[in-house]
Amino acid sequence: MIGTDIHAAKLLLEAGEPVAIPTETVYGLAANAFNENAVLKIFLTKNRPVFDPLIVHTGSIEQITTLVTGMPETARCLAQQFMPGPLTLLLPKKDVIPDLVTSGLPHVAVRVPNHPLTLQLLSSLSFPLAAPSANPFGYVSPTTAQHVQDQLGEKIPYILDGGACNIGIESTIIGFDTMPPTVYRMGGISIEQIEAVIGKVLVQTHSSSNPRAAGMLKSHYAPRKKVIIGNIPQLLHRFSEENRRGEVGVLSFMHDYGCPKQVILSAEGNLNQAAGRLFAALRTLDSLPLSVILTEPVPDVFIGRAINDRLKRAAAGQTHTEDGEW
Ligand code: TXA
Ligand code: MG
Repeated sequence: MIGTDIHAAKLLLEAGEPVAIPTETVYGLAANAFNENAVLKIFLTKNRPVFDPLIVHTGSIEQITTLVTGMPETARCLAQQFMPGPLTLLLPKKDVIPDLVTSGLPHVAVRVPNHPLTLQLLSSLSFPLAAPSANPFGYVSPTTAQHVQDQLGEKIPYILDGGACNIGIESTIIGFDTMPPTVYRMGGISIEQIEAVIGKVLVQTHSSSNPRAAGMLKSHYAPRKKVIIGNIPQLLHRFSEENRRGEVGVLSFMHDYGCPKQVILSAEGNLNQAAGRLFAALRTLDSLPLSVILTEPVPDVFIGRAINDRLKRAAAGQTHTEDGEW
């Protein structure tokens, strides 16, 4: 069921049930982070392997400090600058966080989502919310309540509808065990924004260099259609036969390539707008009877780097790293 009743969401969460929640990045599938049975339901609902840890969402930086044994100065600076917002910090966990949430890792991923409904919900609860993106494991993240309904609607009792997510791409994940700190997932806060606060960071978004045991999963295929990234006019030429049959979809940054099945992410070339529309566009094209989706990289700056990362993964038929989701 989809609705805007925060109280209904609260009661379900208190009863140990999972609830889909809006955030500024993507919709999450939330449960009481202190309740292992509730957390297990998230893994089962998403069909997610238990070795892929979850992000814990709180209503404030103060609440984060109750979940971790320490916060380095760089983490504190970033928290003050970007929370609430699309930034996730990897910090050493206290015992209150069940091992299931972190897949047995000593660090917990924590963030304060910047969405008014979810912040209100969090402030009414006596526990934080563990929440991965509310998609079946291996598919594109949902950016509307309807996306969640389409794929998981029958499996979850309530979807809190907070409208379309305005960032539209997942949070940036950063860890502090290296000097300088390492960004493990590019997302809603850009590397440029982070470096303006704490100076140079390392960027390690390739699965083999993730801090966790790699190589356990074959990559899923998502979107389910073949995605090719490159020069769109050249690709249209290469796929002219398919195009004549109406089987080609185009996902462009700002240009109109005259293809009837085309989504333009931002006609004015605005990267933030493009990020906000990316996942919905992939879903739309994926739902059409196409044999191929042609796309192109966007300028590789600011949130454009996160967009290009997702496009490359879509083209590789992969929505998660070998050991976890995006
Ligand atoms: O924007 C977001 O971060 C969204 C919204 C719902 O908050 N959440 C999200 O969660 O994207 P999920 O589970 O789809 O992706 C979380 C990523 C996974 O790649 C997971 O492996 C990684 O974060 N992660 C979580 N906890 C971790 C930990 N303790 N150490 C290393 N990586 C961790
Ligand atoms: Mg995910």
